[in-house]
Amino acid sequence: MFTDTHCHIYKEYYNDISETLNNAQKCGITRFINNGSDTKSNQEVLKLIDTYQNMYGALGIHPESADTYKESDLTFIKDNLNHPKVIAIGEIGLDYHYTKENKEAQINLFETQLKLAETYNLPVIIHSREATEDTINSLKKYKVTGVIHSFSGSFETAQIYLKMGFSLGINGVITFKSSKLKEVIKNIPLENIILETDSPYLTPEPYRGTPNEPARILEIAKFIANLKNIDLETLSNITNKNIKRIFDI
Ligand code: NI
Repeated sequence: MFTDTHCHIYKEYYNDISETLNNAQKCGITRFINNGSDTKSNQEVLKLIDTYQNMYGALGIHPESADTYKESDLTFIKDNLNHPKVIAIGEIGLDYHYTKENKEAQINLFETQLKLAETYNLPVIIHSREATEDTINSLKKYKVTGVIHSFSGSFETAQIYLKMGFSLGINGVITFKSSKLKEVIKNIPLENIILETDSPYLTPEPYRGTPNEPARILEIAKFIANLKNIDLETLSNITNKNIKRIFDI
């Protein structure tokens, strides 16, 4: 039994969410952490976690909204953090891939939400793209832990995050032929890893090119079990223990 610790299950991506979740259950993926990225998706996450018993939510404002978000978007998150199935703040972070020009606005939004996580004692789900140094600097200012979502950095970067108490969210990227991530993950203890799909993005091999869904956790699990030379049951036990430690579910 596996958990998809990072997905974006919204109506705009999935015509039939019940069917998508049923497909996942058939593959042994029995829990889902649905991540918001703006007020619209945060609202949807809240609705869906009330509908589906095995779905949990993370609320956050993604760095791509750093120039457009409003104060009320943050208030909305704050107002819903006491929901018993909201288990983290995410996805939040820094993304310099498309632009660095709004760096300050991104850092400001990121740190405001880190502060919120610290105040509410909630773990964070971090998006960091081409912004490792600034991400680490911001994280160091707050008493927070959580997950570096879609980790694909070097062994050295992994060590820094692990020392800070963070775990690594590993998804379909590890199955890509060109990815160097497998070499890194080979040398990282399983106690520091959790599995995610980032659905509908980052579909693993051999399904690359089609929309992703939580059922594909199985492909990622098989790949990592093979890489670590363990069976799926052991991987499931360890990763679920990690999830319990991080998110308390
Ligand atoms: Ni995501």
